[in-house]
Order: sequence, then structure tokens, then C-alpha cells
Amino acid sequence: MDSTPLRSRITGTGSALPDKILTNADLERMVDTNDEWITSRTGIKQRRIASEGEFTSTFAVLAARRALEMANCSPEDVDLIVLGTATPDFPFPSTACIVQHEIGARNAAAFDVSAACSGFLYGLSIADKYIRSGAAKKTLVIGAEVLSRIVDWSDRNTCILFGDGAGAAVVEAAHGDGNNALLSTHIFSNGSCWELLYQPGCGSRNPASNSQTLDEKLFYIKMEGNDVFKHAVRAMEDACTAALDANHLAPNDISLFIPHQANRRIIDAVSKRLAMPTEKVFVNLHNYGNTSAASVPIALDEAYRSGVIKSDDLIMMAAFGGGFTYSSALIRW
Ligand code: ACO
Repeated sequence: MDSTPLRSRITGTGSALPDKILTNADLERMVDTNDEWITSRTGIKQRRIASEGEFTSTFAVLAARRALEMANCSPEDVDLIVLGTATPDFPFPSTACIVQHEIGARNAAAFDVSAACSGFLYGLSIADKYIRSGAAKKTLVIGAEVLSRIVDWSDRNTCILFGDGAGAAVVEAAHGDGNNALLSTHIFSNGSCWELLYQPGCGSRNPASNSQTLDEKLFYIKMEGNDVFKHAVRAMEDACTAALDANHLAPNDISLFIPHQANRRIIDAVSKRLAMPTEKVFVNLHNYGNTSAASVPIALDEAYRSGVIKSDDLIMMAAFGGGFTYSSALIRW
């Protein structure tokens, strides 16, 4: 029996996006905005939007199947599914349970994680702890959102930012330091700022059935953009510093930085603070906007499938979201 410690390995990645594209030009016809403002303030050019009949689970299932296929892993061998989302199909049951049923992962325990844009990295951290403790062998970690259903399409401050989609990773137990090893995960919260970014309605405080929820449109995302921006930059830097320190690494050692795709200016500010050159920073938000919990796994999948990630590369991922939550992970590919 191998006595080296159990480690997590990423053996497959997958992603799925709606076909429907909403460009900045389309938004110009919906609210008082323009392509120049959106591009210069956010870097976003277009986003994908779910059509009628498409839900968070629709994209989560597709992304999960693609990740399982890459990992050459049967759904029946999966023993844990963790799904990060702020826009589940239903308040309950969890979207993870719907995915479990749809993909036929009948031996898996399944639950959702509520950590907003950090949902995937929170899920990765949970899966990693299960694997290192020996409690799980093959896990599926998913980030999936249909934010377009909780965005106020008449509010130009928020509707330009968000998009829909899902990303997934198969995370398996292995002994020793093989390829695609997850070196560390770090998760943090700052609950004192929860009111800066949240969905006021449809929970127990303001139930969906409440007339106030409907009259005051409490079912839409509320956000203090400027404050969120400042916290996001500091928090993602802190999460990355924690990852680097724990592994005795310097920013210079990183081959590719995959930050949460919220805003080009947030990404640039974090990269600058970490002295990370632009060519080492993966950016795809011009195509998809901010897909919240889905953004990091979609970017990871795209970076890998397009050949940007090479064997032995050191990959650093970081996210920040409502809560506030913030997080990081390091992989030796
Ligand atoms: N088109 C044109 N003008 C606009 C638009 C728009 N879509 N939206 C706002 N404006 C106007 C404002 O009304 C304001 O006008 P005023 O000066 O006459 O009042 C002006 O532009 C400047 O507005 P600010 O809010 O100061 O613009 P800022 O440069 O801060 O950019 C933005 C706003 C893009 C929301 C930015 O603050 C941001 O990205 N914050 C982070 C938010 C975020 O990413 N949230 C996602 C969840 S958390 C996460 O994922 C990190």
C-alpha cells in the first residue's frame, strides 16, 4: 500500500454556455448605455444568455458530462458532487441533486454551496478536504449560473455585467505529487459586507409571495459597484498571497493566473498588485461577462482545451463574490 499522503488531482474539465449571445450593441437598445462605456469600464463585449427552457442545471449537466468524458470517469464512480451557484434551479432541492440524477451519478452525495462568485473554488476546497481525508475518491465540482433571471434588465448599473454558463472539474484522489495536483486551496469570508452585493428577495426575510418583494422588485441583484470593486481587488490579492505563502512561492513562479472574470479593471488591478505580467493572466470576460461561480471553471476549461496550459505549469486561481467570500487555489498541472 502507498503510504504517501492522498492528494487531489484534476483529471477532467468541462464547460457549457448558452447559444444566445447578447452584445453591447444589443444592450444599447435596451438601456441608456453604449459599447464604449461598457468596454472601457468593464472589458465586456458580449455575454451568453439562457433561453426559455434552459436552467442552471441544463448547463451544469453539460459541463459535468464533458469533464467526466475528459477524465474517462463513469458517473457511477463519482462519490461526491459539490455545485457552487447563486442561481439554483429551485431554493430546494439542491441543483447538485438534479445534476446527480441527470448524469446518473447514483452513488454520489450531492449538495450546493452558496458562496456567490467564489462558489467553484469553495467547492474545490471542500472536495479537496474530502479527498485528503480519504472520505471521497472521485468528486465532481461544478460552478453554474443563470444570472440573467435575477438581473434587472432596466438597470444599466448591473445588467451590462452578467452572463450565464457552467464549468466543471473532476477531482480524484491520488497518492504523491503526480500531474494536475491540487497543491492548496484557501477560502475566506467577510460577512460584514453582505449588504453591498445581494439578492434581497425570495428568501425567508422577503419571501417571493410577499407583495413588497414584487412591488419593490426585491428579486433582482442589488450591488454597490464602487465598494465591491475596491473590496474585490484587496481580497483577491490577499487570497493569492495566502496561496503563494503556503507553498513558499513568489508571483514570478506562477505560469498562469486565472482570476474570477468580473471586470477587466479588477483583474488588471489585482495582477498589478501581484506584479503578474499581462501575458500570464487568462482573460475571457470579453466573451462571457461575469458568470459568477461559473467564471473560474469556464476559464480553466478554455485555457486547458485551447493549449494555453502546459504540463508542469503552475496555475493560480482566485475568486471574489457576494458575502463577501474570497478564495484561491494552486495547481501543478
Ligand atoms: N452605461 C453608461 N453609463 C453608466 C452605466 C452604463 N451601463 N452604468 C453606470 N453608468 C454611469 C453612472 O450612472 C455614473 O454616472 P454619473 O456620474 O452621472 O452618476 C457613471 O457612469 C459612473 O458610474 P460608476 O458606478 O462610478 O462607474 P464605475 O467606473 O465604478 O463602474 C462598475 C461601474 C462597472 C459597476 C464597477 O464599479 C464595477 O465593475 N464594480 C464591480 C462590480 C462587480 O464586478 N460585481 C459583480 C459581482 S462581485 C464580483 O464578481 C467581483
